[in-house]
Amino acid sequence: MIRTYLKSNKHRRFSAVGLGVLSITLLGAAGCHTDMWIQPKPKPQAESDFWLDGQSNRPPIAHAVDRDHLKVDDTYWRGIKGVNVVNGKAAGAKFVDELPDAVFIAPEFKSESGDRSESLAKILTRGQERFNIYCSPCHGELGDGNGMIAKRGFNIKIPPRNYHTDRLRSLPLGHFFDVITNGDGAMTPRAFQVEPNDRWAIAAYIRVLQYSQHAEVSDLKPEELSKIDKPLGGASTDGAHQPETHSASGEGEH
Ligand code: HEC
Repeated sequence: MIRTYLKSNKHRRFSAVGLGVLSITLLGAAGCHTDMWIQPKPKPQAESDFWLDGQSNRPPIAHAVDRDHLKVDDTYWRGIKGVNVVNGKAAGAKFVDELPDAVFIAPEFKSESGDRSESLAKILTRGQERFNIYCSPCHGELGDGNGMIAKRGFNIKIPPRNYHTDRLRSLPLGHFFDVITNGDGAMTPRAFQVEPNDRWAIAAYIRVLQYSQHAEVSDLKPEELSKIDKPLGGASTDGAHQPETHSASGEGEH
């Protein structure tokens, strides 16, 4: 059937012209394509006889700094301050014990009015959320080292640490940032899954957890103190949260 079709002269001429146009177009297209492929260019890691050192890769220009790797703010990126370089080595660095300013002005925590306590509330809320996701499976939601993984067979010599010890209470905030970033002993680094702002938020939340288990009566405001003295179930009618009253009156009374 195709033969009969091509036998007609009119069609033959037509298809010859069509084929010509088609092949020129294809050749043209292929030409462009090949040009892009086979252009003179050095390939990464390949040898090159163009440069004296024989490498196609060029070293960075002296003193150039990659914008994404410019981590000059030691406090924010490493949780330390006071670094001096002595004989080519960093010395004198100390962990900071407060949140870096950069965290307060981060877009997610920034307060429009510049109110730092408003920012802090956002930071701690975020810290709690991230802690419960990334840390509580091992450390427990209270930070007592009793997370689900620890309870159910996380069988290593060193269990997840309990944060409520004198040593961990006395360590500065920057230490916690550092542990999350770089790991510590059996605790593996978490920097790959927790962004720096969130690492700070978690570090701050660890402080909240520590405080929640180690507050002094003298830390309470007078109006909170007055609630402690009220007996449970009696005088108090406001239904407010009364952890101290509860423990003072023993279990099972609520
Ligand atoms: C897979 C379990 C696991 C997870 C998840 C985990 N940790 Fe740990 N963590 C450990 C273990 C185990 C240790 C004890 C390490 C050691 O002392 O060798 C530890 C120790 C620590 C310490 C104590 C460091 C010190 O000075 O002794 C801190 C603080 C800590 N983890 C914070 C965190 C935070 C914050 C997260 C979440 C971002 C987290 N951990 C997630 C297992 C875990």
